[in-house]
Amino acid sequence: MAKKFPAGFIFGGATAAYQVEGATREDGRGPCVWDEYMNRPGARFNADPASDFYHQYKTDLQLAHDYNINGIRISLSWTRILPEGEGRVNPAGIAYYNELIDECIKQGVEPFVTLHHFDTPLKFFQNGHWLNRDLIDKFVEYAKICFEAFGDRVTKWATFNEPWSIAQNGYLAGNFPPNETFQIEKAIQIEHNLMVAHARALNLYKSMNLPGKIGIVHTLEGKVAISASPADCHARDLDDAISNRFMLDACYLGKYSDTTMSLINEILQKNGGKLITEPSDFDDFARAAKQIDFLGMNYYSSHFLQAWDGDSQVVNNSTGEKGTSVFCLKGIGARVSNPEVPTTDWDWPIYPEGMYRQLKRIARDYPNYKEIFISENGMGYKDDFEDGKIDDTPRIEYVTKHLEAILKAIEEGVKVKGYYIWSLMDVLSWSNGYNKRYGLFYVDYANQKRYPKKSAYWYKAISQRRELVP
Ligand code: NOJ
Repeated sequence: MAKKFPAGFIFGGATAAYQVEGATREDGRGPCVWDEYMNRPGARFNADPASDFYHQYKTDLQLAHDYNINGIRISLSWTRILPEGEGRVNPAGIAYYNELIDECIKQGVEPFVTLHHFDTPLKFFQNGHWLNRDLIDKFVEYAKICFEAFGDRVTKWATFNEPWSIAQNGYLAGNFPPNETFQIEKAIQIEHNLMVAHARALNLYKSMNLPGKIGIVHTLEGKVAISASPADCHARDLDDAISNRFMLDACYLGKYSDTTMSLINEILQKNGGKLITEPSDFDDFARAAKQIDFLGMNYYSSHFLQAWDGDSQVVNNSTGEKGTSVFCLKGIGARVSNPEVPTTDWDWPIYPEGMYRQLKRIARDYPNYKEIFISENGMGYKDDFEDGKIDDTPRIEYVTKHLEAILKAIEEGVKVKGYYIWSLMDVLSWSNGYNKRYGLFYVDYANQKRYPKKSAYWYKAISQRRELVP
């Protein structure tokens, strides 16, 4: 295994507007889908004040600087910039992001800016969300405003964060709005529409001759067959097609390969649906595939697949024990637990091998890729705060194993150029509110003070030496 990370490797921290900013009603910001969801009757938490990054970004960037963190993922809130999602631009929104980006640069913490991190304007969500193709045009208009306002200084842009999470969580698992379950046809259509929006925004950016690079951030969960049986392996391939290949093909091949389409069609046939595309989509894909600068890869975990012939359902073991719920998708397979693989407190298998394999498969299947950034990786943990100190050794162990996987891939020639730990400081979790923490810096939500966790000191040492330290 390579001992050192290459010169220029970015050791960053990741955030997302909705999860850190708070100030959801300040300075003319308009409503997004999550505002409505998190303020519904009975909601257990909401996004105010989150980590109060809207007001405290200078403190956080100072901390990043002090801990030798040289990159930060931020996202722009669409409705801070365009309160109605379209039309009128909010000068206060532009001013805020100008100040934030300038402060990043001043502190030597390079901003990696995502245009869309789940927070679609409420109006568009109510009007069909990403199933409505009008939203593609709206997104490109919004992207143009951002490129014009910030493109002189931003050197890394991502069009979307995790298109598959929007589709999967909103329409299969039901834990993101609109909380629908097992709508496989809708999920596939949404993925396609998001990839068209990505391609069109990327092509626009490239036509503007701006100095930065542009890519997209995908969640690339690994898919592993639970046994070597052909049926289990086929379930793995089907889940990989819908979760990973479909989007990677659009990004890098500029079309869906025959193998990918045959797997997707098999899923659609078993679920009685069909994919609607327009011929121009594939022109957009083809142009974007030639121009994409990087892939942002979010990796936390892998799924273990078993063949499944029945209807979609979640089978929960009545004991409620960890690792016992099975997520079954009609026409795809069942995601089962693997007793040999440890899990986090939230039951996510800890499987760094899956990250290594995903890196290798990008290099193998999409040899035209230019660069990869690990745009998110990290561990949710219930950090104990004692006397201002937080010992998060399990997080350090988790990240170490994933950094080892990255070093191995780099040694074997995969062009990984940076790592952004999720998250820089503790942030609001979409489904778990404030009790699932990921940060290098602990946020005391009672007073918004920040405290470095053990992992923050450790990460600093790694970044200073560019090598793994105990
Ligand atoms: C990926 C998402 O991009 C981020 O918003 C989320 O909080 C983390 N995963 C952890 O679940």
